[in-house]
Amino acid sequence: MEKKRAQWGSKIGFILAAAGSAVGLGNIWKFPGRAYEGGGGCFLLLYLIMVVFLGAPMMLTELSVGRASQTNIVGAFRQLGHRRWSWVGWIGVIGAFVITCYYSHVGGWVMRYAFGYATEGERIYADSLGYFYNMLGCHADGTTSFPWVAILFAALFMAINAVVIIRGVESGIERFNKIGMPALFLLLLVLLVRAVTLEGSRPGIMYMISLDWGKLSFDTVLAALGQAFYSLSIGMAIMITYGSYLPRTENIARNTALVCTMDTLVAILAGFIVVPAVFATLGEQQIGKGGGFAFVSLAGVFRQMPGGTFFGVVFYLLLLFAALTSCMSLVEGIVAFLTEHFSLPRKGTTLAVCGSMFLIGCLYTCSQAAFPLKGIWFDAANGTTSPAFCDAMEFLTDRIMIPVCALGCCVFVGWVWKPGSAIAEVEQNGVRFGLARVYAVLIKYVAPVAILTILAMNFATGMTLS
Ligand code: TRP
Repeated sequence: MEKKRAQWGSKIGFILAAAGSAVGLGNIWKFPGRAYEGGGGCFLLLYLIMVVFLGAPMMLTELSVGRASQTNIVGAFRQLGHRRWSWVGWIGVIGAFVITCYYSHVGGWVMRYAFGYATEGERIYADSLGYFYNMLGCHADGTTSFPWVAILFAALFMAINAVVIIRGVESGIERFNKIGMPALFLLLLVLLVRAVTLEGSRPGIMYMISLDWGKLSFDTVLAALGQAFYSLSIGMAIMITYGSYLPRTENIARNTALVCTMDTLVAILAGFIVVPAVFATLGEQQIGKGGGFAFVSLAGVFRQMPGGTFFGVVFYLLLLFAALTSCMSLVEGIVAFLTEHFSLPRKGTTLAVCGSMFLIGCLYTCSQAAFPLKGIWFDAANGTTSPAFCDAMEFLTDRIMIPVCALGCCVFVGWVWKPGSAIAEVEQNGVRFGLARVYAVLIKYVAPVAILTILAMNFATGMTLS
């Protein structure tokens, strides 16, 4: 019965892997648009408050649940509490599965664009919208075809994930992140220097540090909180899995602080890259978010900036690393659960999980492309994609499953397992957790109320997705 569990090989290995999970499309693709919409500086401030008071305590909670239980995300709740609580883990597994289905396909598109800028930048510039739709099998003359380019790249993206996961925690995930994360920081710095030295980027920079409280609304507060959870990879119980590979000698509190800082830093830097660059090239009103923005509008930015094609490659490589390291944490969470819960072999399980997520994800890509699902998810009247399917997937995960799982997690730790147990877990090996009392209050009272509020608002606003 006793089988030796995998462990991180080094401290820095864990930190980079956890930061790799956190730093993803959410930071570089979603954050800048959100920050712009939320009024620049105000949003940044609000976001920081959310990370410090809610995100960090939640991450600490998940990591300590993982390390204390030394098991997967369903097993952890059973072991520390009772069978009754395993539903929290189940939501995490299912949520991670659904997220990965579309995340891996968007990752595939990102990879396609990295290649695209490297080999045929001119074609992207000539017709950036057409290029995007072409990749998805939608042609200018109104015909559609199987989006094989997008699908092929998504398959490649998933294959890289599968290879890394099959190799295991230390020689797969840890090793990949040890190369990928420093590379990501380097790419980010290159882009930052480029963006802030662009002529005309000043108003964008000023916007990002301006404190115009008039733009602040209750919605912005909720958006900041939702974004913080998504960005820190919280509320899918994935950090439980990563925490379960953490040796007892590690200081969870300090590691949490480091990972949260890195994740937030990347998000803010991305904001200071994208917003000033768009201000400088396309003009303020062009800032947007979501697929169209990252793939279509940014082409205009790269076309107009000196050395743009090179920076285009750099940007999509950055996104690619970010997406890969996040995706592999999601896959690992699922694989760890399946292999332990059902005693399945790692290799076969990984292949089956990745294969099925890839196939389901094809519906996501195909629903954008209108082929072969024309009329169902394609808005023929407007000639645009009508991403009902995609929206439904994102709504289900971002707006429902993440908050529900996070709520379950903090109620479990606050009231069943008790904050004292989490604190005891942190304080192993003589570690001092100075903020223990603050933590207990946050996890018991503040976090559940905040998450319940988001959930209620999400239900109330329904499908008004951003
Ligand atoms: N944090 C990742 C990002 O910023 C994506 C993500 C969301 C995630 N929820 C997660 C990753 C849960 C792992 C686990 O893009």
